[in-house]
Amino acid sequence: RPVYLNGEWCDTDTARVSVLDRGYLFGDGVYEVIPAFAGRLFGLDEHMARLSRSLEAIGIAEPLGRDDWQAIFDRLLAGIDAPDAAIYLQVTRGAPEKRDHAWPGDEVSPGVMATVSPIGAIAGGARVITLPDARWARCDIKSINLLPNTMARQQALEQGCDEAVLVRDGLVMEGAATNLFAVINGRLVTAPTGPRILAGITRGLLLDLVRDERLVEVDESFITISALREADEVFLTSSTKDLWPVVEIDGQPVGSGAHSGRAGPVTRQLDQHFQALKH
Ligand code: PDD
Repeated sequence: RPVYLNGEWCDTDTARVSVLDRGYLFGDGVYEVIPAFAGRLFGLDEHMARLSRSLEAIGIAEPLGRDDWQAIFDRLLAGIDAPDAAIYLQVTRGAPEKRDHAWPGDEVSPGVMATVSPIGAIAGGARVITLPDARWARCDIKSINLLPNTMARQQALEQGCDEAVLVRDGLVMEGAATNLFAVINGRLVTAPTGPRILAGITRGLLLDLVRDERLVEVDESFITISALREADEVFLTSSTKDLWPVVEIDGQPVGSGAHSGRAGPVTRQLDQHFQALKH
């Protein structure tokens, strides 16, 4: 697969970064995952705005202009033979001459990498486990430091599940790499943006859609773990998974009655509207 790396084009097999790159040494960088459906980037403006916010939050200067990024994305998408694909890009604080916690000056330019991979279809509903949220206090920054997220996801997989739902002080934050929504008493509830969650682009686009089309009442407030267990419907969102129904939480089925074990009626309705946005 094609890779853009610091001004050059190469391939995933041959691309090489410096061992002194601060992304490699410190996880000192930020990233985005931008989906393209049928060859068209989806939510591009929102993703680029979030990239700018992440860069600003950690004090890295914008490495490229919007046209430069666009040219990179066009070339990446031309180089992949899949209907749906995800651009991965990351910007690190570059590779100074020696390892030092202190930030280098502007003589060191940011490290920029972008590549692309196919998005596969997701099969069936998600089974999730709940875990204490072991992350830092700036989850709003899309940092490449994902150790707690990868540990949580791994724990879910080792228990035969698909995703971990992170809980802080009895409140549901989000998934390891997804936002979480619940349908409770006919309202769509999801955690508010702020330092404790990533402001997911799928989350934001879905909320805009739901409000514009008045599909269901929205409540951006934290869900307690006990309310989550009693919710009528639960689903996850992310750029690569759209709306992903949750069918089981810690071994217990979500919802009751007819739709137990598969996507509930509100989730299905929202998903239909969301799919229409994409094409
Ligand atoms: N993850 N929360 C976290 C912690 C995430 O890592 C992600 C995305 C989301 C959903 O955000 P969005 O709708 O913008 O994709 C929420 C990406 C896909 C990843 O790390 O691969």
